[in-house]
Amino acid sequence: MKTKTIKVGLLGFGTIGSGVVKILAQSAETIRKRLGASIEIVKIADLDIKTDRGVTVARGVLTKDANEALCHPDIDVVIELIGGYEPARTFILKAIENGKHVVTANKALLAKHGDEIFAALEKKRLSIGFEGSVAGAIPIIRSIRESFVANQFTAIEGIVNGTANYILSKMTDGNCDFKKALREAQAKGYAEADPTFDIEGIDSAHKIAILTRLAYGARIDYEDIHVEGISKITPEEVQCAKDFGYRIKLLAISKFDGQSLDVRVHPAMIPESHPMANINGVLNAVRVCDNFMVENILVGHGAGSLPTGSAVVGDVVEVARNILSGARNRVPSQSFQIANVKPIPLKDISEIDAEYFLHFRVLDNPGVLSRISGVLGNHSISIASVIQRGRDQNGKGVPLIMMTHTAREKNIQDALSEIDRLDCVCEKTVLLRVER
Ligand code: HSE
Repeated sequence: MKTKTIKVGLLGFGTIGSGVVKILAQSAETIRKRLGASIEIVKIADLDIKTDRGVTVARGVLTKDANEALCHPDIDVVIELIGGYEPARTFILKAIENGKHVVTANKALLAKHGDEIFAALEKKRLSIGFEGSVAGAIPIIRSIRESFVANQFTAIEGIVNGTANYILSKMTDGNCDFKKALREAQAKGYAEADPTFDIEGIDSAHKIAILTRLAYGARIDYEDIHVEGISKITPEEVQCAKDFGYRIKLLAISKFDGQSLDVRVHPAMIPESHPMANINGVLNAVRVCDNFMVENILVGHGAGSLPTGSAVVGDVVEVARNILSGARNRVPSQSFQIANVKPIPLKDISEIDAEYFLHFRVLDNPGVLSRISGVLGNHSISIASVIQRGRDQNGKGVPLIMMTHTAREKNIQDALSEIDRLDCVCEKTVLLRVER
């Protein structure tokens, strides 16, 4: 009997696209044995059809015209790996209009235009797979959408940007500066086209916006997420964290107390005993907490051609299974039925409660410590530990480091703006939130 074939069109033949083509070729037999059908790439559209991607593509498959995939009558599934907002959005909407299922790794697009895309899919009762959009090969989307379906999530936290984690790991190991580590991450194909997205936390914000939607059925505007990147983290900060028994990680955090969401991205200090403290290099980790379990932590390859490519291929096979079995809307795209995805208010960063690591640079004079701790006390901030280092050699001050007990961010910010105006304070104080 002839094996059935699911026909696919691929938009974008870059790092991930070529990984997908490689995996589909190399694992054709494995996929056929598992799926009971074959996957065939009928069209690959990219503006650049000249560069050698190290994979063989049959004659007539490569095209510069995305419409050859979007309008091809035999194509069942369109894989969008162009990235960014446009033309990816227009192409996906056109694919849906033409009755194609969609697979994408485009976190920016889903974070910004998710409502529009999910509604269009629902109208046509088509599926979308986007496992590759968050944390590369880690099956976090499948876990939330299909495994933890009876669980009420209370927190999702993760290291979800491989490039930033690579840079911070290299800085922590002490053998690389920021720029060199970034260049290496780019050369390995981890970074976004614009690496600002990686290092300034925007990519992590896209990803946590998606996970927030899936975990809580929450419609949030990702632009409302508080985002801080890692570009201001200095080797001194990294060393200081180490001395205190902590590591600095770029965390994407989404907590839900049943009323409002606390969603933010920023570098955080985590104790070296924390399960995510030793997630290094391009590895990602996502911790999910719910009403049944303190935590489950998923760890894996967060970026790169084959890890993300493998997540994309997993989605293609999943969609193919739906097609072969005639199932439609088997798993709701957003994890919840569309009518149950609702806006949930987002806390402003000033309303969060956290522990803080404060790195002051102060004159080494009598009374300085009491002036600073006095201001903190006036703002209801309790100090957990304090350490002053070295002697002032050149009038530039000395580092004074404090860890606080849990405090309200607004109180911390108010206290710091007062402290930074004191004549004994030499530089703007560095603040890092502590997560446990
Ligand atoms: N630039 C992203 C990262 C790629 O470094 O994690 C995966 O989304």
